[in-house]
Amino acid sequence: MKVEEMLNIARKAIENSYCPYSNFHVSAVLIGKKEFYTGVNIENVSYGLTMCAERTAIFKAVSKGEKNFFSMLIYSPDGMPYPCGACRQVMAEFCSEDFEIIVTNGKKFEVFTLEKLLPIRFKL
Ligand code: THU
Repeated sequence: MKVEEMLNIARKAIENSYCPYSNFHVSAVLIGKKEFYTGVNIENVSYGLTMCAERTAIFKAVSKGEKNFFSMLIYSPDGMPYPCGACRQVMAEFCSEDFEIIVTNGKKFEVFTLEKLLPIRFKL
């Protein structure tokens, strides 16, 4: 899928971002082998319970039986949404080193591999 198409999906998905505390909206579009999956950040009044958009998308996909992923676009109109450490580790559980991560605020685009973002990772 083209990056422009992924961005269009992300712009639609972000309408469901629930971020009353930070007001930092994030959506993610994860491209799997079977289909694509969207995710948004979902905050909680107990702040630490917040779930990032990236993990929402991955957990949605895995719960639908998908475990093969090629790329993810992460979008925020409020800043560049570089994935947090927890999301990088969850990506590493399912994605190979060449998994492509596109970070964008809608104007600027940066592309990374998972290897670049998490070079030394915990594996059993
Ligand atoms: N957040 C994400 O969902 N993904 C990122 O890549 C960065 C941060 C969320 C968590 C929280 O709801 C808000 O952005 C501010 O940290």
